[in-house]
Amino acid sequence: MPEFLKKSVHIKDPARVEQIISGLIKGGASKLQVITDFDMTLSKFSHNGKRCPTCHNIIDNCKLITDESRRKLFQLKEKYYAIEIDPNLTIKEKIPYMVEWYTQSHTLLIDQRLQKEKLSEAVRESDVMLKNGYEAFFRKLNECNVPVFIFSAGLGDILEEVIRQAAVYYSNIKVISNFMDFDENGIITGFKGELIHVYNKHNGALKNTEYFSLQKNNSNIILLGDSLGDLTMADGVPNVENILKIGFLNDKVEELIEKYMDSYDIVLIKDDTLDVANSIIEKIL
Ligand code: TMP
Ligand code: MG
Repeated sequence: MPEFLKKSVHIKDPARVEQIISGLIKGGASKLQVITDFDMTLSKFSHNGKRCPTCHNIIDNCKLITDESRRKLFQLKEKYYAIEIDPNLTIKEKIPYMVEWYTQSHTLLIDQRLQKEKLSEAVRESDVMLKNGYEAFFRKLNECNVPVFIFSAGLGDILEEVIRQAAVYYSNIKVISNFMDFDENGIITGFKGELIHVYNKHNGALKNTEYFSLQKNNSNIILLGDSLGDLTMADGVPNVENILKIGFLNDKVEELIEKYMDSYDIVLIKDDTLDVANSIIEKIL
């Protein structure tokens, strides 16, 4: 596959990857499911050298919140994003900081009395972009009835709006994320269910065993992520036959490359396309 010759592609054990992909091809559409992160995995990390927003950043940057709140949200991001990607801290050490970040950031959003009906405009006016090749990715998976589980520690309402506006929110997609609760006037009052942050996707996966048991014959998995926290997204799948883990490494590349190569089967460095995933999907379907 020519896409594998791209400079961005790094594979520690090519023979193993070949073996997994052969298993995926053999299983075909009926055995396949995709489990994917959203921010910086399906969405771009940067475009023309400029950073693209996460779901949260779409709100941080929009006109629905005051400048004072925006300043506070940026300060939180400065402090906690550095911890999120710090190569010298373990996941266990990072978790309490992630909970602090999300709690403070979500409290600020609630204080700002965000209005449900204004969110689509915030998304439309934002710089968010899906990775090149997203149309083919979603179209093909939908055509072949492959279940797609989008598992995001971002904001569910925003994420859904992004894929809706991109016209790819097909019926084969299930979104698990942090969804807002609204009062009868459409003003945010809180968040539904348990918080999903970058490093507790394991818990979220095990809470979705009902979804995964419905796809119990889909024992071949393509997992897409950009964080080391995304590696546990398939933990709720009862019977895994073949799993191919593809990881986008966007930031602190030198410090993190070894860890990513050890954990992801395929590492894509600063790759803002879905080319590699699409080439594999094309072979399977
Ligand atoms: P993901 O699971 O879809 O990648 O979404 C989580 C990303 O959102 C993660 O990289 C952290 C980021 N984030 C913000 O950008 N701003 C925030 O205020 C919070 C709480 C998270
Ligand atoms: Mg992500």
